[in-house]
Amino acid sequence: MKWQLFISAATTAWLFCTVSAHAERRQPTHNLEVFRAWLKANPQPRTTVPPATDVQTLGGDLFRDKNLSLNRNQACATCHSFTPPKNPVSGQPLPASGFVDPENVETGSAVSRGSVRGRFGVLNAPAVAYAAFSPQFHWDGQAAQYVGGQFWNGRAANLDEQAAEPFLNPLEMAMPSKWAVVTRLKENARYRRSFEALFDIDLNQIASYERAPASAKPPPGVIAAYDAMTRAIATFEKIRSFNRFTSKFDFYVAGMTDLTSVERFGLELFNFKALCSRCHVSEPSIAPNGSVFPPLFTDFTYENIGVPRNTSIPGNPSPSLGLGGRKDVATKSPAGNHIGKHKTMTLRNIAVTAPYGHNGVFATLEEIVHFYNTRDVLGRVASDRDPGFGVKGWPVPEVTLNVNFEEVGNLGLTPDEEAALVAFMKTLTDNYPAFGNDPNVPPGTPSPFVSTPFPPFP
Ligand code: HEC
Ligand code: HEC
Repeated sequence: MKWQLFISAATTAWLFCTVSAHAERRQPTHNLEVFRAWLKANPQPRTTVPPATDVQTLGGDLFRDKNLSLNRNQACATCHSFTPPKNPVSGQPLPASGFVDPENVETGSAVSRGSVRGRFGVLNAPAVAYAAFSPQFHWDGQAAQYVGGQFWNGRAANLDEQAAEPFLNPLEMAMPSKWAVVTRLKENARYRRSFEALFDIDLNQIASYERAPASAKPPPGVIAAYDAMTRAIATFEKIRSFNRFTSKFDFYVAGMTDLTSVERFGLELFNFKALCSRCHVSEPSIAPNGSVFPPLFTDFTYENIGVPRNTSIPGNPSPSLGLGGRKDVATKSPAGNHIGKHKTMTLRNIAVTAPYGHNGVFATLEEIVHFYNTRDVLGRVASDRDPGFGVKGWPVPEVTLNVNFEEVGNLGLTPDEEAALVAFMKTLTDNYPAFGNDPNVPPGTPSPFVSTPFPPFP
């Protein structure tokens, strides 16, 4: 709610508008000169990165703790890893972590293993990086669309709600109940101390029940402890390490370095001919309080771009119905207006988070760009296993309802233009000062957006 107020009050005053979705999709102003002139006239405070709070430190421990999964073999960080994945060809570490499942990046697998051997998820793990900027899930009446939330279908309104799910998901961490999770928390002396000190919760007071089934009525304190745990994790997800704003593009936007001519051409296409920025917002903006807001490469809305089925997912799950597959959304829209729509994900760090799409059917950036360009004109192949996939044609969309034909599917891009788009997206990888070998941005250069505040979360 607060976020919505923030948006409506802010949009009129912002130099360029971001984040809020409009009925008329944004037309890029692409007016970096105006932005840079403003920056020059209003030097930004070089606030240093604040040290993690105690709650964030606790959240970090929880995020990395494998003991909170059924077989003590899986943490949040297993599928949203801090360690950069290895380049599958060279075996060298990639320049940044996208906070996805490194096994997916390294082997091309679309989905993640669960804590229970032989179980797999059904969707591709998205980045945790920058997820904290997604507004609370809501219906934007003016734009007539759903905005924000977490997961491909937005079913968690915010990060707190999101963090409650993986522990109990039988295909992920597979714990039988909140009570069982809290019993695991109790094992850890540090957690016992932190919960007492930070939340005034005495874990010792809660009876242990290692295998508590979901049907068992939890004793007092379990729900409060579980909620405190998810809150700590959500708070941790707002630290700088996940939200660095240190890509080449960020330094370019701030006027500190330049893109190559191919990258600049790619940006131009991204904003205009290829229509990408209609959904993956590429403009920086300035908030009424003068803080600078970098582009997040998403407007947090939902679309069906016609992703074909990935037949290689273990168990061959039925197609994901996305937003419209949710009971609450379906009840409000009996005509099925939102079936097949999935969240527009950020493109920050996209070069290090293969494969692509909610079901990971696209192996490379080249492939998904070719899809955007030719979905409706290349021809048909039977499935993603056809050797002609992406060459002779594309399979039918996994879900044929509500496919976006206006902005996606026949862009008329040449092969050079497709390549330029890919080159541009590679400028969105964090840690540029460390790997860029750019004298204008030497190692250690802080993000030009170091003072970007997190939006007010309810
Ligand atoms: C087994 C792998 C796995 C584990 C473990 C896991 N996740 Fe995920 N995560 C996923 C997948 C897959 C999705 C997408 C699922 C969906 O949309 O239904 C996801 C989605 C998310 C999202 C939403 C991102 C967005 O932009 O919508 C966040 C945030 C997240 N996970 C955080 C966590 C946290 C916190 C934990 C630990 C409590 C965790 N994950 C554990 C695989 C995993
Ligand atoms: C109409 C809105 C829209 C437009 C226009 C659009 N996208 Fe997307 N994009 C999305 C949505 C929605 C998804 C997730 C779709 C899914 O998986 O079902 C997505 C996913 C992606 C992904 C994969 C993200 C991931 O985490 O796996 C990439 C890469 C991407 N888009 C690049 C582009 C490029 C490049 C263009 C321009 C050629 C573009 N998009 C145009 C909405 C859009």
